[in-house]
Amino acid sequence: MNYQETFRHSLEDPEGFWRQQADKIAWYRKPQTILSKDANGNDAWFVDGSLNTAYLALDYQIEQGRGEQVALIYDSPATGQLKRYTFLELRDEVARFADVLVQLNVQSGDRVIIYMPMIPEAAIAILACARIGAIHSVVFGGFAPRELATRIDDAEPCVILTASCGIEFDKVIPYKPLVDEAIRIASHDVRHCVVLQRPECEAVLASAIDLDWHQLLDKAGSAPPVPVSSDHPLYILYTSGTTGKPKGVVRDNGGHAVALNYSMEAVYGVQPGEVFWAASDVGWVVGHSYIVYGPLMRGCTTILFEGKPVRTPDAGTFWRVIADHRVNVFFTAPTAFRAIRKEDPEASCLADHDVSSMRTLFVAGERTDPSTYDWLCNILGIPVIDHWWQTETGWPVSADPVGIEYFEPRAGSVCMPVPGFDVKIVSEDWMGARNSSGGAVVIGLPLPPGCLPTVWGNHERYLDSYLQAYPGYYHTGDGGYRDAEGYLYIMGRTDDVINVAGHRLSTGEMEEVVAAHPAVAECCVVGIEDQEKGQIPVGLVIIKDGVNVELARLQSELVGMVRSEVGAFANFKQVTQVTRLPKTRSGKILRQVIRKIADNKHYEMPATIDDPAILDEIRLVFVESGIGAVASP
Ligand code: COA
Ligand code: AMP
Repeated sequence: MNYQETFRHSLEDPEGFWRQQADKIAWYRKPQTILSKDANGNDAWFVDGSLNTAYLALDYQIEQGRGEQVALIYDSPATGQLKRYTFLELRDEVARFADVLVQLNVQSGDRVIIYMPMIPEAAIAILACARIGAIHSVVFGGFAPRELATRIDDAEPCVILTASCGIEFDKVIPYKPLVDEAIRIASHDVRHCVVLQRPECEAVLASAIDLDWHQLLDKAGSAPPVPVSSDHPLYILYTSGTTGKPKGVVRDNGGHAVALNYSMEAVYGVQPGEVFWAASDVGWVVGHSYIVYGPLMRGCTTILFEGKPVRTPDAGTFWRVIADHRVNVFFTAPTAFRAIRKEDPEASCLADHDVSSMRTLFVAGERTDPSTYDWLCNILGIPVIDHWWQTETGWPVSADPVGIEYFEPRAGSVCMPVPGFDVKIVSEDWMGARNSSGGAVVIGLPLPPGCLPTVWGNHERYLDSYLQAYPGYYHTGDGGYRDAEGYLYIMGRTDDVINVAGHRLSTGEMEEVVAAHPAVAECCVVGIEDQEKGQIPVGLVIIKDGVNVELARLQSELVGMVRSEVGAFANFKQVTQVTRLPKTRSGKILRQVIRKIADNKHYEMPATIDDPAILDEIRLVFVESGIGAVASP
C-alpha cells in the first residue's frame, strides 16, 4: 500500500489498522478490544492485552535468534570507553538489576526516579523497571536540585537511582550532592538512593538511605519479566508546560510498544539487525523512544553515546561513531549540526571517516533552519529528513515515512502526517481550517497508540492543556501550515514553551525564579531566536520602587539563580531592565509581541493592548542592551 492508502486506512478504520500493527508484537495475552474508553472517558488502546516491554526489547529478541547480536554499544569519548553488550548480555544485566529492585521491595506500579548520565546503567535501569512493572521517571542530568525535587514530590518514588557524576566536555559534575539537595528540599520521603560509583569522581554515601549499586548487584539473582496490562504506565516523563510546574507525561505499555514498533518500520524504515543511532540523552523523550525502547524492540543495535557533537574531541565525532559502528540510520537535533558546522564549515572532518553505511539522517527537536538543512544535504548526499513530534506523542507525528513511501523532502517542512495522526491547521479562534495561511496545529481524536493518556496525578491538567481549546482535537501548542501538496511546516510554539539547544523549557519556570528576587517587582522571560541554540531565554525585569540595586549585580544574581534553580542548560544569560511591560487591558503580558520585537519580525498590533507606546520602549531597550536580531546592525 502506498502512503495515501495507508494514511486513509489509519483514519477511516483505526481499529482495523492498529489491530494489524498490534499483531506484530508478542503479547502474553493478545488484546481483543482495540479501542475503547478508559475510566476518564478518554480513548484507550488494547485495554485487555497483557505484555512486558522489557521482554519485547530483550528476551523476545533472543528467542528470535538474536542473542549473540550486539544490542547496545556504549561509545564514550568523555571517558575513552567502548563497550558492547549482546542481547543476551544486556538481558542478563537487566534481569540482575531488576532483582536488585525486587530486593529493595520495589513493586509493580511503584515509581523509580532515574537521574543518570549517558552510561549503559541508565538504559539497564530503565529496562529493569519495565521488567518488573515499576514506573520509571528519568530526569535529565542537567536539571538543578529544585527541579529534581519538584519531580520527586510529584512522582513520589520509593527509590532514586543515580551515578556519582556526569561528564560535560572536560568538566566532571558530581551528581550526589545535587540528589542529596533535591531529597532535602522535597517533602516526599525517598526510601533508598542507589548510587553507581564512577572512577572520575566517587560519591560519599553518608546518608542512611544511600546504597552502593555494585554491592547490591553482587548479591542479586535474576528477575523474570512481569506481565502487565496494556494500560499499565511504563513511565512518567516530565516536560515543560506553560506554567512553572512541569507536566508528568504518562506512557502506557501496550500502545507504546505497538506504536514504536510501527514507527521503526514505517517512519525510519529500519530492519532488524541494522544499527540505529539517536544522539540524544536518555533524559529526553528521544532517548526513551529511540535510544532504548524502539531500536531494541525492532531487533536493532542501538548506540549510547556519552559525548558531544564537538570538542569530544572534535567536530568529526559524529562521523567517527557512524563509521566505527556502521550506523544505518542516524537521528539527532539540528542544534548539534549547527555546532558542528560552526567549527567545521567545510565539513573537512567528514573526509576522515567512511560514513557510507548511513542511509538516512533524521533531525527533530526543533525547527531545522533551511541553511543548516541545505548544508547537511550538500555534505552528505543522502535523504535528510526533518520530522516533528513531542514528548506527549512519544513518536513522530509528521515525517517522510520512508518505510512506506519516500517523498522528495522540502527544506523547512516536516513532510506528511504519519498514519494515525489526523493533523489539521485551524485558526487560533477556532474558525475552521486554515491550511495554507497557517494557524494552530491540532490532531483529531482518537490519538493513535503511544500518545499520552493523561498527566500523572492531574487529569484535569491533561484536559485543560490538550483537549479543551479545540473540542474533538488534541492541541499541540505548535503553529504551522500546509502547502498545496500537503507538506506540513511547523513554525514554532504558540505558547510559552521554548526550545534551547534542543532542550524544551518553560519561560514560566524561569519567570518564577526571577520573580523571587527581592529587588524584582515584575518580570517576564521570553525565548528569542539564536543562531546556534535555536532559541535562548531573555529576562525583562521591573525593579521595585525605592530599591537601590546596581543593574550589573542584579543581572548576575538572576543569571546565577536560574542556573542553580533550573539548570545551566537553560542558557539564561541575558537580563534587561524595563520600566513597564506591554500588556492587554486585562493584564496579560504580551510575550509573543516582545519576542517578535527582539527577533525584528513583523507583528500585528494587538487590539487589546493597553498602551501601544510601550512597544517602542521595549524595542529601544533591546537595541540599547544589544539583545536579539533587532540590535544587530
Ligand atoms: N548535565 C549537566 N550540565 C549540563 C548538561 C547535563 N546533562 N547538559 C548541558 N549542561 C550544561 C553545560 O555544561 C553548560 O554549562 P556551562 O554554562 O557551565 O558551560 C550549559 O549547560 C549549557 O549547555 P549547552 O546549551 O548544551 O551548551 P554547550 O556549549 O555545553 O554545548 C552543544 C552545545 C550544541 C554541543 C549541546 O547543546 C548539544 O549537544 N546539543 C544537542 C542537544 C540534544 O541532543 N538534544 C536532544 C533533543 S533530540
Ligand atoms: P519535546 O517535547 O522536547 O520533544 O519538544 C517538542 C517541541 O519541539 C514541539 O512541540 C515543537 O515545538 C518542537 N519540535 C520538535 N521537532 C520539531 C521539528 N522537526 N520542527 C519544528 N519544531 C519541532
